Amino acid sequence: MQNLEQLIESADTLVSLEEVRIGIFGKKGVLAGEFAKMKSVPNEEKKEFAKNLNIQKANLTKLFEMKKSQLLEASLADSMKKDGVDVTMFNSYNESGALHPVNETMNKIIDYFVSMNFSIEEGPLVEDDFHNFEALNLPKYHPARDMQDTFYMNDEGVLRTHTSPVQIRTMMNPDVKPPIRLISPGPVFRRDFDVTHTPMFHQVEGLVVDEEGKISFAHLKFILEDFLHYMFGDVDIRFRPSFFPFTEPSAEVDISCVFCEGKGCRICSHTGWLEVLGSGMVDPNVFKAVGYENVSGYAFGLGVERFAMLIHKIPDLRSLFEADLRLLEQFR
Ligand code: DAH
Repeated sequence: MQNLEQLIESADTLVSLEEVRIGIFGKKGVLAGEFAKMKSVPNEEKKEFAKNLNIQKANLTKLFEMKKSQLLEASLADSMKKDGVDVTMFNSYNESGALHPVNETMNKIIDYFVSMNFSIEEGPLVEDDFHNFEALNLPKYHPARDMQDTFYMNDEGVLRTHTSPVQIRTMMNPDVKPPIRLISPGPVFRRDFDVTHTPMFHQVEGLVVDEEGKISFAHLKFILEDFLHYMFGDVDIRFRPSFFPFTEPSAEVDISCVFCEGKGCRICSHTGWLEVLGSGMVDPNVFKAVGYENVSGYAFGLGVERFAMLIHKIPDLRSLFEADLRLLEQFR
């Protein structure tokens, strides 16, 4: 049997291996011949004889299978070299991707407001001074513009510093009449760069306008509380008086710190609270700028990266834009 093993080993193509297979394992092959000898073996030796033969057969079969897969691999490699890529080969590398945490958070925000019957509006990223500032009650040289220092294209063109100009564009659109119930998601730009700020980030704006007396602060409070519970789960929520030129009264909204559950930690500056959005009743000067009369409304604006950061407990907001797979793969 020694030379049978050598015979298998020496086959150097699939064709010659097939000949060897027939010679050894075939109907008229060596093994069949050996098994035929059983007849002439004395009874008391039959068992031992058969056992030996079966062991040898098993060994030869194993050797044959190994050789066959070696030759198959070699012939595949050879044809790949000659023909280039084998497009019929099964691709077992099949990792699925995932949404970026900013997109995922954006989608969740949009889902909430769409379920509440808000429409989605978009505006240009390169705005003009009127829509980005003036119509929002931020006159030229007003000190409140300092909070939104940004990139100017020339005297008029400006990379929008917030999504609020979409409020103006929608209300000035002759095809749109109150009641209005919109959100406006999209990128905005500011001259900022630290652990909680990047020069480009995303906001979602909200605007609700209806006849005078129909929209109150209670409506604003209800929707934002419901929304924040949807996003952050069981957190405490507080409305804190604030100032925005385009709302009066204005409120900033805080949630109890998701890192320390309100006990106080470094991230919430030991206050137990985290600011998550700005809001208020639309300032009469804004309605005046767009030519609306006898209406009431509320508005709000939030930063999507900040939401993503708090939901996923990401310590440095800038890491959302580093495209580092070690971070992103955690969100698959
Ligand atoms: N535009 C504000 C900002 O970027 C956010 C904001 C605050 C929007 C209050 C609003 C609002 O609509 O009512 O800082």
